[in-house]
Amino acid sequence: MFATMLSAMFALLFTLPLASAWQQHRVTVGPNAQLIYDPPFISADIGDKVIFSFRQKNHTVTQSSFQSPCTPLLGPDGVTVIAFNSGFNPVGADVVDNFPEVSLTVLTTDPLWFHCEQTGHCAQGMVFAINPPADGNTFDKFKAAALATAAPPTGGSHARAENNRATRYATARAAFAAKD
Ligand SMILES: *[C@@H]1O[C@H](CO)[C@@H](O)[C@H](O)[C@H]1NC(C)=O
Repeated sequence: MFATMLSAMFALLFTLPLASAWQQHRVTVGPNAQLIYDPPFISADIGDKVIFSFRQKNHTVTQSSFQSPCTPLLGPDGVTVIAFNSGFNPVGADVVDNFPEVSLTVLTTDPLWFHCEQTGHCAQGMVFAINPPADGNTFDKFKAAALATAAPPTGGSHARAENNRATRYATARAAFAAKD
């Protein structure tokens, strides 16, 4: 009986530090004046922290949804923003260090979707995800949906086909960058 309790206590001592060992992830927002998050998506466990480090221009990290990549996630009243929003973080051209940082703590294993709220940035593919599924609602589909919110191309079917190819290329590059 006592021995069982003792070994149970040891088991607790050994598992507790492991369970609370959260990881920190760093994501650069808009590196080299590009409209991207680097990396474009991450895998994270509950309790992990994500530090967003903002670079030049004036970006946000704003939670949205897979269905509406470029629309802030609102509460049931359709007005209140209930989700994560870093707000705008303008960074002047002369800034070289002490970049603004905003941190997020992951509270779920469900996929989380984000975009930049600055005018036009999301429609140019500035989106980010935490734990996007490998099948179904993938990051590539999310980014394609963001790009699709841009004004439709003019010039008929040929122009449209060219545009789609550019989209595929961009999403393939995003997936590659995430492997780093
Ligand atoms: C950043 O962008 C927001 C939204 O467009 C704007 O209201 C704000 O004035 C900008 N800040 C700076 C310093 O440019």
